[in-house]
Amino acid sequence: MSAKYGSVKSSEVPGPKSTELSKLRELLIAKGVGIVAPVFIEKAEGSLLTDIDGNVFIDMGSGIGVTNVGHRPTEVEAAIKAQAEKFIHTCFQVTPYESYLRVAEKIAQLAPGKGLTKSVLFNAGAEAVENSVKISRHYNKKVAAFSFNHGFHGRTMMALALTAKEMPYKAGYGPLPETYKVEFAYCYRCPFDMTYPSCAIACADKIDEMWSSPQFEGKVSSLIGEPIAGEGGFIVPPKEFYPKVSKICKKHDVVYIDDEIQTGAGRTGKMWCVEHWPGTEPDMLVSGKGIGGGFPLSAVTGRSKIMDAPQVGGLGGTFGGNPIACAAALAQMEIIEKSLGNVERINSYMLKRLKEMQQKHPVIGEVRGMGAMMALELVSDQTTKEPAAKEAGAVKNAALKRGLLILTCGTYNNVIRMHPSILMPQDMVEESMDTLEESFDEVMKA
Ligand SMILES: Cc1ncc(COP(=O)(O)O)c(C=O)c1O
Repeated sequence: MSAKYGSVKSSEVPGPKSTELSKLRELLIAKGVGIVAPVFIEKAEGSLLTDIDGNVFIDMGSGIGVTNVGHRPTEVEAAIKAQAEKFIHTCFQVTPYESYLRVAEKIAQLAPGKGLTKSVLFNAGAEAVENSVKISRHYNKKVAAFSFNHGFHGRTMMALALTAKEMPYKAGYGPLPETYKVEFAYCYRCPFDMTYPSCAIACADKIDEMWSSPQFEGKVSSLIGEPIAGEGGFIVPPKEFYPKVSKICKKHDVVYIDDEIQTGAGRTGKMWCVEHWPGTEPDMLVSGKGIGGGFPLSAVTGRSKIMDAPQVGGLGGTFGGNPIACAAALAQMEIIEKSLGNVERINSYMLKRLKEMQQKHPVIGEVRGMGAMMALELVSDQTTKEPAAKEAGAVKNAALKRGLLILTCGTYNNVIRMHPSILMPQDMVEESMDTLEESFDEVMKA
């Protein structure tokens, strides 16, 4: 079918100008900074990215789940401009400003569960994660920090320690702060060889057992978990998992930190993903990515008794809650709130098309996701579930050459993930799925 949106000038992606800049990148930028698509961007609008060679790509990566309502929404752009004409920085801890309060107020109004009323604003998601653990420790005077296998929480030292994947994230950076892992409900590859629902969510019971052991009883400070393991492969746990985890945290007086950095800001059709699972009551929410409209803004929001534990001066940072980021976030969150109704349209269409692709291509082991957060786990054999990482990379590259930007992820690097803007028009979603299917056809024929 002929593409209406994605338009690559030739089969040469990257084009000559991007290729030239890639050489400069090699000279100037540390090798550790990997690149998904070596096309240098000149302009971005809505869900389209235009590179310096004039290629146009449909953006289903959204800057890793940030531009949740597209690039440069008019209201966000206007809010940024208006704020830039007033002041750009004072540091909230030196001379405060209202927009910081309004962002905290907005998050408190929208926060999942009950009683998450106080916030601190930061820049990157990892910084919010670090602080959520610090605050928890200060509050309950306990030390052990827990996270899930397949989880990702960022690249700074504590966030990295909480992250599960060794390569490429953790390898070579030790020793990291001491943390502990528990199993996530990765039902497609159940770590306990059980089957849902007959397992009765035994993986959550194991957490309870572990925390009741002499090694951990009374020593666990916090458990951080992504509602859907993002980098880990868009792994969606059964609906009973988090309500149960949340109860276990309460039982052991452990601060349950809900990491919604990737799943939040409307991504799954609710403001925060755990809202899909009634009975899930986080003590703390960490948000980032999508709330800032493309500006670096993250937040820790929690119960006031927890948030007020650290002494005055014990929290903060020079840039946290920057005025332009706050202005952008207020505009962005308003658009998200109004746009949540679109997510079902995108989800149902993508789900249908991805399931059809699975029928055609046995390399697609599982189709999963929620809302505008959809993924395909690729396997070379449906029975052994041998991860097909090479094929996932090849499909991603084939799609790029056809004008569609998608990402890969997964503990085994074999998952294709898509997180489009929740405002992506229907015909663009359709074109994306056509392009993805053509990419699978091409790769699996080769
Ligand atoms: C769930 C989750 N937590 C934390 C982070 C870290 O955020 P940042 O890259 O802004 O530091 C990420 C980033 O991908 C994430 O997906």
